[in-house]
Amino acid sequence: MGTDHSKRKMFIYVTAFSAAMAGLLFGYDTGVISGAILFIRDQFQLTAASQEFVVSAVLLGAMFGAAFSGSMADGLGRKGSVIVTAIMFSVGALGSALAPNVLSIAACRFLIGLAIGVASYVAPLYISEIAPASMRGGLVSLNQLMITLGIVVSYVVDYLLSMGANEWRWMFGLGILPGIALLLAMIFLPQSPRWLLIRGKIERARVILVKIYGEAEVDVAMTEISRTVTSDKGRWGDLAKPWVMPALGVGVIMMFFQQMTGINTIIYYAPTIFEFAGFQSHSVSILATIGVGMVNVLMTVVAIWLIDRVGRKPLLYWGMAGMALSLTVLGIAFNAEALSPNLKFIAVGSVVLYIASFAVSLGPICWLIISEIYPLNVRGRAMSIATLSNWAFNLVVASTFLTLIQKLGKAGTFWLYAGLCIAGLLYTRFFVPETKGLSLENIESYLRAGKPIGRLGR
Ligand code: BGC
Repeated sequence: MGTDHSKRKMFIYVTAFSAAMAGLLFGYDTGVISGAILFIRDQFQLTAASQEFVVSAVLLGAMFGAAFSGSMADGLGRKGSVIVTAIMFSVGALGSALAPNVLSIAACRFLIGLAIGVASYVAPLYISEIAPASMRGGLVSLNQLMITLGIVVSYVVDYLLSMGANEWRWMFGLGILPGIALLLAMIFLPQSPRWLLIRGKIERARVILVKIYGEAEVDVAMTEISRTVTSDKGRWGDLAKPWVMPALGVGVIMMFFQQMTGINTIIYYAPTIFEFAGFQSHSVSILATIGVGMVNVLMTVVAIWLIDRVGRKPLLYWGMAGMALSLTVLGIAFNAEALSPNLKFIAVGSVVLYIASFAVSLGPICWLIISEIYPLNVRGRAMSIATLSNWAFNLVVASTFLTLIQKLGKAGTFWLYAGLCIAGLLYTRFFVPETKGLSLENIESYLRAGKPIGRLGR
């Protein structure tokens, strides 16, 4: 019994961990550009506009990828979709490493973006459909852990390679390693049993469910999942049903708060913020940024440990309160710039508190919640919409940050983000469900009954 239990746990961890490699690619490929662009700019003599074009190619690709893949995740399946992204990641990495000119770099980065757009929700979706309810939060958040790890690895690779000349090709090209690893791993992983059940492949689903729940509990699990399996394959129009709309709204609005509270101004511009705060050397700023990335990784580990124990909502409250506090202090420090010889240290301290607070809350939980609250037959489609909005809000923040700083000042900009954290906290209090410990099927039945989503789990 004991060894059987450990074998099952091992199967679940290995499966979740392998699929989460998609997160590593997400993090690496979004982070790597910050260093690579400096070399590309010099080699091809790029104007500011063409640099923006190269940098934003990934974000645009991710928006398209998320927008047009909802039917693929439901039709081709979760496993098949991750395999497609692994191929795109690998081809994109190789292509961008060998690219002869700027246009082909941008085209390959767009292809990588397409892969990121799909992988950013299909990997959490796949993991959440494999995971038993009591472990789901932590397992799905492994994907976020790998995103944060990918970001740090990309910073370190950029830093090390920036000592040589013209190493941007290697910076891009190294992405092929996790791409191929993901492809090989996925070939051996099982299909999502829930997806198999909607396709009517009952025997194949059972074999996988035995590996997860064991012979003794498999029938209970099958019966429970079958409750939400309808003969209806799911259409885009189903998203407009009155009991699905509130869940769709929660997904999109959570993504609004995840992005509009400024996370990627820190991820993409941390060195710039540290330079504003008075650090003079580039390399010290970059090292400080690597430190910030590590705090992001470590606090995501803490989140994984807490998420199924204390639940999603308490972490969201504490996290957003910490983000609001740190942004307020950062704003005050910049406002009193002339008075504050310690600005540097206050800036680093605030950024660390901010990232730690994000990492235990909005970082993992938004991706987790969208993998939990949608009905099985349109889960892929609904997640693709929430994910599309994530990338669209990301683009809005990334392209307005420097202008906001000019118009509102540094303090005003950080206070604006702080205000949005408070709004997010209030929104969570009234509208976000607590999904801790509930099976996906119980969540679906609750919503189908037309009950208010914000009261789920209270
Ligand atoms: C967000 C990304 C962000 C990353 C930082 C993710 O959950 O979606 O936009 O860069 O966390 O850790």
